[in-house]
Amino acid sequence: MESENEEAADADGTSARSLRAEVERRRTFAIISHPDAGKTTLTEKLLLFGGAVREAGSVRGRRSDKHAKSDWLELEKQRGISVSSSVMHFDYRGFRVNILDTPGHKDFSEDTYRTLTAADSAVMLIDGAKGVENQTRKLFEVCRMRGIPIFTFVNKMDRFGRDPLDLMSEIEEVLGIDAVPVNWPVGEGKDFRGVYDRLGDRLIMFSGGNHGRTLLDENIIEGGLGSDAFNEALGIHAGELTDALELLDGAGAEFDLERVRAGELTPMFFGSALTNFGVSPLLERFLEMAPCPTARESDKGMVEPDSKDFSGFVFKIQANMDKDHRDRIAFVRVCSGRFMAGKSTRHVRTNKPIRLANSTLLMGRDREEVSEAFPGDVVGLFDPGVFGIGDTLNDKGDFNYPGIPSFSPECFARVEVAAVGKRKSLEKGIDQLVQEGAVQLFREPGGGSATLILGAIGQLQFDVFQHRLASEYGVEPGLSPLDYKLARWPQADFDTEIFRFSERVRVYEDREGRAVLLAKSEWDLKRVEEKHPELKLAETADPLRLATSGA
Ligand code: G4P
Repeated sequence: MESENEEAADADGTSARSLRAEVERRRTFAIISHPDAGKTTLTEKLLLFGGAVREAGSVRGRRSDKHAKSDWLELEKQRGISVSSSVMHFDYRGFRVNILDTPGHKDFSEDTYRTLTAADSAVMLIDGAKGVENQTRKLFEVCRMRGIPIFTFVNKMDRFGRDPLDLMSEIEEVLGIDAVPVNWPVGEGKDFRGVYDRLGDRLIMFSGGNHGRTLLDENIIEGGLGSDAFNEALGIHAGELTDALELLDGAGAEFDLERVRAGELTPMFFGSALTNFGVSPLLERFLEMAPCPTARESDKGMVEPDSKDFSGFVFKIQANMDKDHRDRIAFVRVCSGRFMAGKSTRHVRTNKPIRLANSTLLMGRDREEVSEAFPGDVVGLFDPGVFGIGDTLNDKGDFNYPGIPSFSPECFARVEVAAVGKRKSLEKGIDQLVQEGAVQLFREPGGGSATLILGAIGQLQFDVFQHRLASEYGVEPGLSPLDYKLARWPQADFDTEIFRFSERVRVYEDREGRAVLLAKSEWDLKRVEEKHPELKLAETADPLRLATSGA
């Protein structure tokens, strides 16, 4: 699809050039990490540096009052978990920065996986004492699947942690990506002095103090390695820094922006979000290196962000964000053109015109009315129940984005049959909640049987599902746990009969009618794979890949 970057003004008076400028100044990313690595803290500090908040703690609160603020769902309050996620934005040095926030609890990681499809890059946050943890690894894999650039921030350098070289080789070995430190720590724990900025040949010294609630002036020392100013600032650490840098220069990967943008090389930063240290060097280099929104694949070819027509896709649907209104908000990532509130576009799946009314820019839990938005932005659209996860909106209704992949659930349960009078409400409730992506649904092949199987990443997802069925649809079906542990989508056509032999691996259909194998263990799947290598079992069902492979 052609980009229309001539200067001619369109009907709305926006020249294509200003659309291009809006695209180029946008940076849309998500932070991925294992719980407790400091994602909330880093997000707050980025907002602080970006001027979106004046004092850290004012957006989401410190842990003690986190729960009080996130009251959109009773369950969230009862359990003290964060189920919801949002989007935050701020302007910084000419850039529009969009941070796609994700829920912290691992049981809701499917939500995070989906949100990553709307991000153009990711910041991978690692606890300096713990290294690459489980959840980080899974989220990293999702980023890699999309080929987006990943920036690494090693946090909590104000505490004693692991050797930085060790952390670097762990990232390279465990994640299989080259790492290039953009800065390097000087000292650690109580003796943490700051970082050496390798690209700028300068020292950024840590001054501690005020517990990071407000900004501090950075103490930057120029002069370069070996200079008197450096030696004085480094003190006893001068020798160890020189040694580490020699090692990095000799054996480490070289900085290469193209490889960073291709997701093959991760720039590494060190710091301490709690004390604000290293946050602004991260933000500044990130804004320089991270890509602006680029062309996105559709079933009719690539769509350039500066194409004149508006397009976007729904990556998340959140119900009951505002308890008083019982509403549903569809989160739409703008991919091309200019979003204008009140204008009409098309909802491609239903081929119906849709007015972009009641649109908001999300900011934490607050909503701002939005009149226009550009590629990279996320708008919240009031959803009267028409939107589904992965739906495309575009002005001409003539192409589809690939949709959101389905990720393998890790828990499964069968829905108990409801009393006759309740069946309609149950079906409606399940249909709506599955469309929202609250859980995944599987049926017997052919859809003949009434057996409904639900899949989720974690038990809490089922709890939320049941809670919502009861409060919104007045039905309380039992869920019987099943001992399946994973789902795999065959990438080739196959005869469902051949799997009849095993009770441990069964064939079902997912919501889109694709065949899917539910298995009790990796071992069972391995046996199937050995016997039927032609099936090419995939951990995720990628709608575009399936569509083009004809499966
Ligand atoms: P999460 O969203 O990734 O789950 O992590 P969160 O920011 O909530 O941080 C988890 C804990 O780590 C918090 O401590 C937080 O203060 C601490 N933390 C975050 N960044 C740093 C850092 O750079 N250095 C140090 N030393 N600690 C850091 P907590 O005691 O669990 O909660 P709180 O009472 O401090 O809020």
